[in-house]
Amino acid sequence: MKSETKFELKKIGLIYTPYENTAPYQPVEEKEKEFFVIIDEEFAAGVKELSKFKYIYLIYVLNKSDKTPDMTVVPPWSKGKPVGVFSSRSPLRPNPIGLSVVKLKKVAGNKIFISGADVFNETPLLDIKPYIKDLDSKKDANNGWIEDASDFEHLALHIKGIPHEY
Ligand SMILES: C[S@@+](CC[C@H](N)C(=O)[O-])C[C@H]1O[C@@H](n2cnc3c(N)ncnc32)[C@H](O)[C@@H]1O
Repeated sequence: MKSETKFELKKIGLIYTPYENTAPYQPVEEKEKEFFVIIDEEFAAGVKELSKFKYIYLIYVLNKSDKTPDMTVVPPWSKGKPVGVFSSRSPLRPNPIGLSVVKLKKVAGNKIFISGADVFNETPLLDIKPYIKDLDSKKDANNGWIEDASDFEHLALHIKGIPHEY
């Protein structure tokens, strides 16, 4: 039997952020502004026990990308070097699916308050999964091609959106 090549997914809620047209390249803690998720009523029971976790994964549709994705991209910190789209976090991908790890601040019914997320306001949410310390933190993880840069440590501040002087 031929394996499936297309799949239908449903939205389970929306991610609300202050970003309408520009957003950070990765999640940045924003103390001033409010970020939250509203889960659609039919899925609201799915957040039971979620508040026990400090971090969660948000999996969502990058629904405002309308360009055709290339299989190689030039990320902002690759210094002009093309890398494969699957070696990048580019929002332009064959399947426009985004993944962000955010801090879970509070669950109030079907409203989940989170730390800063790198998505436009009202981005459709596909799934939430808990970030589980003992499963998800790999002690020997590295930074792939990003470590090739001679000023890697400086670059790492940009990547994490950490303000710095130089
Ligand atoms: C580089 S992507 C990274 C997304 C996610 N953290 C990941 O790694 O999959 C973040 C960028 O996606 C773009 N973006 C955010 N929300 C979007 C949406 N709903 N549709 C299309 N692009 C979006 C913004 O330009 C933002 O800077």
